[in-house]
Amino acid sequence: MSSCTTGCTTKSILEQFPDKTRELREFLDSIVVTGDMDKNRGYLIKCLHKAQSIFGYLPLEVQQMVGKRLRIQQSDIYGVISFYSFFTDKPVGKHIVNICTGTACFVKGADKIVAEFKDQLGISVGETTPDGMFSLVSLRCIGACSLAPVVMVNDKVYGKVEPKKVKQILNEYK
Ligand code: FES
Repeated sequence: MSSCTTGCTTKSILEQFPDKTRELREFLDSIVVTGDMDKNRGYLIKCLHKAQSIFGYLPLEVQQMVGKRLRIQQSDIYGVISFYSFFTDKPVGKHIVNICTGTACFVKGADKIVAEFKDQLGISVGETTPDGMFSLVSLRCIGACSLAPVVMVNDKVYGKVEPKKVKQILNEYK
């Protein structure tokens, strides 16, 4: 258990998800760690990928678990996570709403689409709804400019999106 600042106790991520923790521990135990730090560092991306695929993101405790096993400092791990955009240390929603804000989409009113999604979900870009259902992300050109403005929810692409269609799109995932 870890204590919060107001005196209450909360379960750590590792305690909350024992099965996921066990899966990661087994994976980490399968890595042959030696005194060769360069070699150990070579395993870092692979381990972070695995950890993110298990937990969905890389909370601090998970980073620490990886670091402890590979004998790599937390600051080095954080450096890797912030360098590669596919790693995230924030929880992501079940459904990822990607709104293209590239030039073609911007010209066709992507800002109004962003505003409508923010309004409907009650979150800002880069955030996840409290129920963990949706994350809102802004992207630069997904290569479907002729369909601008474009929104992609998970793998499904929506073209020529208008603000009034936003609610309908979200309803498909509720
Ligand atoms: S700018 Fe949006 S798809 Fe290209």
